[in-house]
Formats: sequence, C-alpha cells, structure tokens
Amino acid sequence: MKPAVIDTDPGIDDALALLLAWNSPELRVEALTTVAGNVPVDLASTNALRLLALRRPSPSPLVAVGASSPLARPLTTATRYHGEDGLGDLGDWPAVASPPTSPDAATVIVDAARRHGRELTLVALGPLTNVALALKADAESVGRIGRLVVMGGAVDVPGNVTPTAEFNMHVDPEAAHRVLAAGLPLELVPLDATRQAVLPRAGLHAALAQSPGPVAGRIQAFAERAFRIGHADGEQGMALHDPLAVGVAFDPSLVKWEAVRLAIGPDGETMRVSGMPNCRVARAVDVDRFFGLFLDRLCPPTSRRPASS
Ligand code: RIB
Ligand code: CA
Repeated sequence: MKPAVIDTDPGIDDALALLLAWNSPELRVEALTTVAGNVPVDLASTNALRLLALRRPSPSPLVAVGASSPLARPLTTATRYHGEDGLGDLGDWPAVASPPTSPDAATVIVDAARRHGRELTLVALGPLTNVALALKADAESVGRIGRLVVMGGAVDVPGNVTPTAEFNMHVDPEAAHRVLAAGLPLELVPLDATRQAVLPRAGLHAALAQSPGPVAGRIQAFAERAFRIGHADGEQGMALHDPLAVGVAFDPSLVKWEAVRLAIGPDGETMRVSGMPNCRVARAVDVDRFFGLFLDRLCPPTSRRPASS
C-alpha cells in the first residue's frame, strides 16, 4: 500500500476517480488537496467533503484547500459539463462543514513529500497550480517523490477546450510549464489515453445495479449530467479522464508508456519537442481490464466494502 495525495477539482470525473481510489487497496490516500478548475476552489472543497461524507473511506483523508486561481491568469471553469456546483447540480446533498482553513494544499503536498519521499505517489486531477506552488515552497522535497501522475494534455489528439489544448493544462499553462521543468518523475495521462476509456451510461448503470443503495444512487444521479452533456456533444458515454489517472496510479501496466519531451504552449498546448524526455506519456490503454477494475471498485456490494462503510 503506497501513501498517496490526490490534488483535485471535483468535478464529476474527479468524484468517480476519488471513489475508485478509496476502494483501491494499493493506495493509502492520506490527503485530498483541492484546486480551482472545474469549479471555484470553495466548491471543489465542498464537493470533496460531500464525497467523503458519502463514502466514508478509512482512513479518512485530510482535506486541504488550495489555489483559488491559476498562477498568472483568470480562472476558466467547466461548469457547463460538471454543473454550477461541480457535481451535477443535484441540489439535495446533505450539508457538510466548511473545509479547514489551514494547512493549505501546497503545505500538505510539501509535508507529504518530506515524510514519504520516494514512497509518495502524487496524483493531480486538475490544473497544476497547487503542484507548482508546492515546488515554489520546497522544490528539493517535492523533487524526491516517487511518482507524479497527472491527468492532462493532448499530445497527438485534438484538445477539449481549444483545438490543441486540454482543460487542465489550458487553465494554468504557467503551472504546467513549471511542473514540467522541475524534473519530477512525471507520468502524463492525456486525452490520447483517456478518450479510449469512454464508459457508456448503460455500463455504469449495470454495475451500480449490482450494489443498490445510497452510494450507488448518488453516483448514478451526479454522473447523469456528464452523460447528458456528453451525448448532446455526440459522445458515446463519459470519458473516464480522472479515473484512468487513478487507475494508472495503482496499476501502471494498464497503459503502454512512451518517453517524451514535451513543452507547454501559451494556451496550454502539450507539444512534442526534441531533447531528452521529461516525462512518460500514457498511450494504448487496456480498456477492458481498466473498466473491469473501475466498475468492480467504484461501488462494490456492501459485502465487499471495507469495514468503515
Ligand atoms: O480534460 C479533462 C480534465 O479536465 C479532467 O480532470 C476534468 O475533471 C477536468 O478537470
Ligand atoms: Ca479534474
């Protein structure tokens, strides 16, 4: 079991990724750090707490609030897809407490890096603002982590915000540039890979029907907006962007890797450039095996859930 910190901007696919992570025995998620992205950071933090209250993982991770805006530009959100509240605008979530005001996300990331070093897996599911701020605070400690798994980028495929840029990189290109330049053990899970993992609505519903109850019902409800918007945009289902990054965090063999040198363009483009590789990029995905793991672990029947549930 490896210690992990997940930086996230929940976000419907982030929510599915967190539920997957909490049911994956290979990872011990000791902290969630929230970042402005899909929604403003206060909503991202509320959503992290909502999901913790829904699933009650054990151990329960610390929640640390992070950057409220990108390093050097105004925030672009993705509320059209995720809803104004970031989780499908259901309107009936039980109330949760306000997130703690300290320590902040960068402090928590640096602290985890200092304590765990090479044992730590840092998973970034949103814009890289918090990771860049952690590097600014203590690059030496953050540079010692074992793995940085990032959902983001569009290397040889079109972007999803501009024709050439993927959302997480587009929101904060300055942060992405600093992270790429830091020499971290960076594993990028771009749209090239995540678009191979498009889950049909019926597939999710069939899996949730195996474990009826409040968790399954809530997952089906908040996921519905993503399916609805996706189908309106001509998609065959929901691309499991962030869940695939978590999948790779606990099982890197789920994808084939390519060592690449990337540079970040002014709009967050992830461009191949010449020179020594500065990351490895997920390419072909073992989609059947990934879907099996995802659907098996997202909301297992209560008989197979950890004692905390
Ligand atoms: O481009 C997909 C990424 O942007 C995912 O992390 C999704 O949650 C959004 O943040
Ligand atoms: Ca995300």
